Amino acid sequence: MPLQIEGIVIKNERIKSLYFVLGIYCPPIANQIKPGQFIMLKVSENSSPLLRRPFSVYKSYPDSHPEKQKRGRLFILYKRVGKGTQKMTTFKRNQKVDLIGPLGKGFSLPALPSPANIVLIGGGVGIISLYPLAADLKDKTLSVFIGGKTRKDILCVEDFKKAKSIISIATEDGSLGFHGTVVDLFSSQMKAFKENKKCYIYSCGPIAMLEALARLVKSKRFICEASLEARMGCGFGACWGCVVKTNDPKTPYQRVCKEGPVFPLEDIVWE
Ligand SMILES: Cc1cc2nc3c(=O)[nH]c(=O)nc-3n(C[C@H](O)[C@H](O)[C@H](O)COP(=O)(O)OP(=O)(O)OC[C@H]3O[C@@H](n4cnc5c(N)ncnc54)[C@H](O)[C@@H]3O)c2cc1C
Ligand code: FES
Repeated sequence: MPLQIEGIVIKNERIKSLYFVLGIYCPPIANQIKPGQFIMLKVSENSSPLLRRPFSVYKSYPDSHPEKQKRGRLFILYKRVGKGTQKMTTFKRNQKVDLIGPLGKGFSLPALPSPANIVLIGGGVGIISLYPLAADLKDKTLSVFIGGKTRKDILCVEDFKKAKSIISIATEDGSLGFHGTVVDLFSSQMKAFKENKKCYIYSCGPIAMLEALARLVKSKRFICEASLEARMGCGFGACWGCVVKTNDPKTPYQRVCKEGPVFPLEDIVWE
């Protein structure tokens, strides 16, 4: 059940170029949030900007976490792209912030057979929403494909290393790793995954990336879920500002914030 609640800023630090980590003490949301769900954060005291902004929770520590000092904390990794995220960079320690969450439907985590290939494919800030999955699947070997425009846009590498993932990196300008998109990179290694009986792909990134991935895996045996990035008005299903077309004949238009943001990739109709 989503809550509208106050949290307290515990840190807000630039980690590189346009990227910042915001830590918030908010036990009710830290206790409930699941991989792939998101929060809507009020970024301004006044009406500029008026609308809350959606963010994945990158790390969260429930009351049951073994390290007492981390309990109740959640972290957002954000890129400064416009007015709202610019405001966020001014948040100070001990400041109160207003958030709504957990929102949306996260990744489904079926009982994964062994052996299974589990592949995470993230483009840009999309990789952030996949990190909680890695934390939940820590006893499995994950193949993680991380993409970005340049080396400055490659995120979470150290985190995935700690999760013992096999990491492959792609940059569109060739400044780090494979020269090309993260989908091109996955395509170049896909054969290895096809040989295995079951392959689960979890992905998140810009629409063009997910569309390219959908084309690539079409008619393959992969089970593929994608978290969609859409512009959001309310974040909880009221405004219908975030709809996506699906091939469900009963409800062809579905709300990214409510029925998603995670959908089976094959269900999306790319227009
Ligand atoms: C479910 C979800 C989870 C997200 N998680 C994260 C996260 O963990 N970290 C992070 O940095 N960002 C994340 N985003 C994107 C983030 O919400 C936007 O970057 C933010 O709302 C931009 O606000 P702004 O006021 O700074 O930019 P604006 O001034 O509103 O826009 C600046 C530019 O960014 C583009 N833009 C804004 N929002 C989106 C969007 N949702 N999708 C594509 N383009 C957009 C605009 O078209 C414009 O070009 C997420 C989005 C969704 C829907
Ligand atoms: S953002 Fe309002 S319905 Fe999705």
